[in-house]
Amino acid sequence: MIKIAPSILSADFAALGDAVAAVEAGGADQIHVDVMDGRFVPNITIGPLGVEAMRKRTRLPLDVHLMIVEPERYILDFARAGASALTIHAETCPHLQRTLAQIREHDVHAGVALNPSTHPSVLEYVLDDLDLVLVMSVNPGFGGQTFLPTSLAKISQVRAMLGARAVDVSVDGGVTAALARSLAARGATTLVAGSAIFGAPDPKVAISEIRSAAEVA
Ligand code: DX5
Ligand code: ZN
Repeated sequence: MIKIAPSILSADFAALGDAVAAVEAGGADQIHVDVMDGRFVPNITIGPLGVEAMRKRTRLPLDVHLMIVEPERYILDFARAGASALTIHAETCPHLQRTLAQIREHDVHAGVALNPSTHPSVLEYVLDDLDLVLVMSVNPGFGGQTFLPTSLAKISQVRAMLGARAVDVSVDGGVTAALARSLAARGATTLVAGSAIFGAPDPKVAISEIRSAAEVA
């Protein structure tokens, strides 16, 4: 079954607690939290304090996407704040295996995100150190961008590399109900969506439209 992870980047930051509660009530499977540092990506969002505050407002897993340089410096803080999964960018990690192991030491799911131009071969020697792969289908930094079609082949490629491993393949950026079927057909198991959910008149309807489209696959 496909999992839907609303990205709070497109929610009202003055009312994040309510936004999280609304998508939980609307059937979301997890909450996707975008952490940006103004260095790896040209935007700044929230840190461990924001994650800790959201932890108190939902029972759903918090899927924390770290778009920051030197993520190894903050693993402990985000684990303590209540992250369920921590996804680091391959482009920021010279010691990728070590950082993934560091995340798992805290009983947190470990993920690797790949920018659109990053080849999945960077995953080859860490396939057993992973709980999820996040295929970025836009250049990270902002919500509301258009899905890059080159991501479709990459989803299939990552799925094939993973073989029988129980690793989630998540797709993040420009995801819409219209794309959901082909993403799921290529092996995506989690769909992250920001503007398609929080920009919709009713987030609950948006979540169920994405889910039903994906489940046709
Ligand atoms: C982009 C973020 C995404 C973003 C997705 O850097 O990682 O999670 O919020 O937003 P949409 O779905 O609007 O592209
Ligand atoms: Zn994200």
